[in-house]
Amino acid sequence: MALETLLVEREGPVGVVTLNRPKALNALSRTLLTELSGVIAALAADDEVRAVVIVGAGDRAFAAGADISELNTLDPAGAKRHAESAQAIFEALERMGKPSIAAVHGYCLGGGCELAMACTLRIASETAQFGQPEIDLGLMPGFGGSQRLVRLVGRGRALALLLGGHRIGAEEAERIGLVNKVVPAADLRGQAMALADTLAAKAPLAVRYILDAVYTGADLALPQANELEAALFGMSVATADAKEGTRAFLEKRKAEFQGK
Ligand code: CAA
Repeated sequence: MALETLLVEREGPVGVVTLNRPKALNALSRTLLTELSGVIAALAADDEVRAVVIVGAGDRAFAAGADISELNTLDPAGAKRHAESAQAIFEALERMGKPSIAAVHGYCLGGGCELAMACTLRIASETAQFGQPEIDLGLMPGFGGSQRLVRLVGRGRALALLLGGHRIGAEEAERIGLVNKVVPAADLRGQAMALADTLAAKAPLAVRYILDAVYTGADLALPQANELEAALFGMSVATADAKEGTRAFLEKRKAEFQGK
């Protein structure tokens, strides 16, 4: 399928998705969200893809938010459907069963920040600016931002960002736990790809179980979350990769994981 708003490439085991509307600072239009939904499904289903990197085209933005020209025309019921649809796409990304990395430069605002937060990890260039400016449009986030931001940085810091609508730089975003790492602008793509390659080389079933334990477990009480962990641990021990990984350690050699 020809894509209008995204570029999708494969670099070895890593799928690279570029948000490609640079003239609109990669704002997340309906078309872009629909295309992203199809791309996520395809990457999730492709066993040769072991990690995904998302970047923004152009030198100004990862993504400056939902497309405001489209929000302007929504009625309340349409807005609710729009939010539910985008939330489902971001949940599909988060629950893909393989790690995703947002490589963020420039503006990462509103829906753009919500997309980055739905990724497993975030690497930011020193130029990146994060924020949830919806409040200054008389709105609130609708793509999961009011929920994922709290989970990532804690309630007090999330409320300060959600109610203030101000932007913070990459260093501050790292300090509060919104991003995992800040790198020089010239190194952003290289470092994101290196991290993706590292994660792609891990035992894929163990990766899947860890993601499941963390995301599903976060919504459970601790005893049930621990039960889930024990069940997933049992499943991880049953894999051929666990046999290989433990045997390789004892034989003092590097493990060769097969994804089985
Ligand atoms: N939607 C649609 N178009 C956008 C956009 C957005 N979110 N952000 C930027 N653009 C467009 C601008 O309209 C402009 O287009 P034209 O050249 O055709 O006029 C182009 O991108 C460049 O933007 P600016 O001229 O505004 O660039 P700037 O350097 O003066 O400012 C900016 C940059 C501070 C990021 C500013 O563009 C801005 O404030 N953008 C909006 C940020 C925002 O409020 N995001 C939240 C959106 S709502 C949301 O995301 C809700 C949700 O959770 C569902």
